[in-house]
Amino acid sequence: MIEVKDLTKRYGEARGIDNLSFEVAKGEVLGFLGPNGAGKTTTMRILTGFMPATSGSAVVAGYDIFEDSLQVRSRLGYLPETVPLYTDMQVPVYLRFVAGLKEVPWKKINHRVDEVMEQVGLTHMAHKFIGELSKGYRQRVGLAQALINDPEVLILDEPTIGLDPKQIVEIRSLIKNLGGERTVILSSHILPEISMLCERVIIIDEGRLKANDTPGNLMRQLSGDSRVRARIGGHSKNIQPELEKIKGVKAVLHEGGDAGDTQSYVVDFENGYQASSRLAKAVIEREWDLHELSPVKMTLEDIFIHIVTEEES
Ligand SMILES: Nc1ncnc2c1ncn2[C@@H]1O[C@H](COP(=O)(O)OP(=O)(O)OP(=O)(O)O)[C@@H](O)[C@H]1O
Ligand SMILES: [Mg+2]
Repeated sequence: MIEVKDLTKRYGEARGIDNLSFEVAKGEVLGFLGPNGAGKTTTMRILTGFMPATSGSAVVAGYDIFEDSLQVRSRLGYLPETVPLYTDMQVPVYLRFVAGLKEVPWKKINHRVDEVMEQVGLTHMAHKFIGELSKGYRQRVGLAQALINDPEVLILDEPTIGLDPKQIVEIRSLIKNLGGERTVILSSHILPEISMLCERVIIIDEGRLKANDTPGNLMRQLSGDSRVRARIGGHSKNIQPELEKIKGVKAVLHEGGDAGDTQSYVVDFENGYQASSRLAKAVIEREWDLHELSPVKMTLEDIFIHIVTEEES
């Protein structure tokens, strides 16, 4: 449904995104993850036809975004970082206006506006001016305008930013219900949100693609291999510095001792090292007693930090 190939955007000398390639299948919900300035919004703006790319290509819903941008736009809904709302319009008036712009057939507009307001929980706000709405409800208006043309593809730039916890839960369940037939890309800084909503996640850092997999695979791949907990016998002060010397070790955390005269450490390895077997070997070579050795499951947050900081060092 979406095919992005070697997409690059430069802002003058500054880098926006650098050679991004990825695909999104029909009906898939894809999460965009990356620190501030990574290039998430840039990518979304290009895909929605708001901005040209410097080079590369992208096809959305079967149409080239540069050559057939009108075809793309009519099949697409976009919730930008900040939604341009007309504060002196009542909610349904604004939505009818957007529906007209998006060429919803005029006979269907009223029905469609009612339907979408119902869907995003705005029906009881129908008499309000947009300027009177709280941030959470404005965000719903933003979602409603993105949905008004019943788009095949939905692109949501940080849909839950600035909302209170209750609103976040509601907007998330709304987004979850939007999946199915629709193809969705959403960006977020909130990692549990991505694990909860997305079938696949793309991690972007400094404009480049750093990972592209399911949240489950990312967690499994990295946890099995790069972080282990070891419980080692004895009080030796040397254990921690010795652990830090093992090839591939990035960091060692001393978790403390227990009654049974053992000390527990969490040892982080760089990607690509067989953490468990390396650690076991090192412990045996030093003739320490090994009481426990187990992989530590990483959260998406750990993985994100792992991937992003590894590139910097
Ligand atoms: N209009 C612009 N002119 C110049 N540089 C820009 C412009 N818009 C974005 N950039 C730069 O492009 C890079 C990517 O920005 P982008 O807004 O896409 O990041 P983001 O991943 O959406 O970040 P955030 O999480 O903060 O929203 C940044 O270095 C940013 O400074
Ligand atoms: Mg952004």
